[in-house]
Amino acid sequence: MATLTTTLLLLLLSLLNNVQSNPNNNNNNNGDDDDFATSLDRSKAHGLGLGLKREKLTHLRLYWHDVVSGPNPTTIMVSSPNRTSASGFGTVIMIDDALTLGPDLKKSKLVGRAQGLYAVASQTEIGLIMAMNFAFMEGKYNGSSISIMGRNRVFTKVREMPIIGGSGLFRFARGYVQASTHSVNVKTGDAVVEYNVYVLHY
Ligand SMILES: *[C@@H]1O[C@H](CO)[C@@H](O)[C@H](O)[C@H]1NC(C)=O
Ligand SMILES: *[C@@H]1O[C@H](CO)[C@@H](O)[C@H](O)[C@H]1NC(C)=O
Repeated sequence: MATLTTTLLLLLLSLLNNVQSNPNNNNNNNGDDDDFATSLDRSKAHGLGLGLKREKLTHLRLYWHDVVSGPNPTTIMVSSPNRTSASGFGTVIMIDDALTLGPDLKKSKLVGRAQGLYAVASQTEIGLIMAMNFAFMEGKYNGSSISIMGRNRVFTKVREMPIIGGSGLFRFARGYVQASTHSVNVKTGDAVVEYNVYVLHY
């Protein structure tokens, strides 16, 4: 029993010793390969302007307007596949869609734009990959953005997509959005989608 304790103690000491002599833990500028990285104390990060006081959860409800038709479309097809399929697999569309507080594009307040692209990533259904930034232009969020990337099976009632990051007030953002189609004009293809955004940030 005593030997076991001694062995454990020696193991612990050697681990501690390793930590101390590991050059990766040195923070002096002696030309080590990892000189460009510095560990920051989170509790002091506020003083650096990072604002890491307390993580909060924010819910935003926005309407996303995909205008395909008319004189001022906000989408453009950048690639049309040379092999046709029922799902349109391979089609890539770039967007600069309005984000408003209400579903009526003309009457409701514009708070930002959804800029990015979506592409048909499924061979068997209308399944999109969305890669877009919600760029906010209103109030305290003006200039801040959140980045969304995920799978969007557009005929499903609620589609969930991850928030993979953010900028400005949304630094360190993570979370998810839930998209549900509000209306589609079957003649033109124009669509309004309600986005409920749940984002953790500081
Ligand atoms: C589509 O493009 C690829 C690559 O250029 C080519 O190999 C293929 O034959 C094309 N398919 C059709 C249906 O034209
Ligand atoms: C948002 O910020 C831009 C750039 O700083 C500024 O030009 C614009 O007026 C701001 N918009 C609002 C609604 O505050």
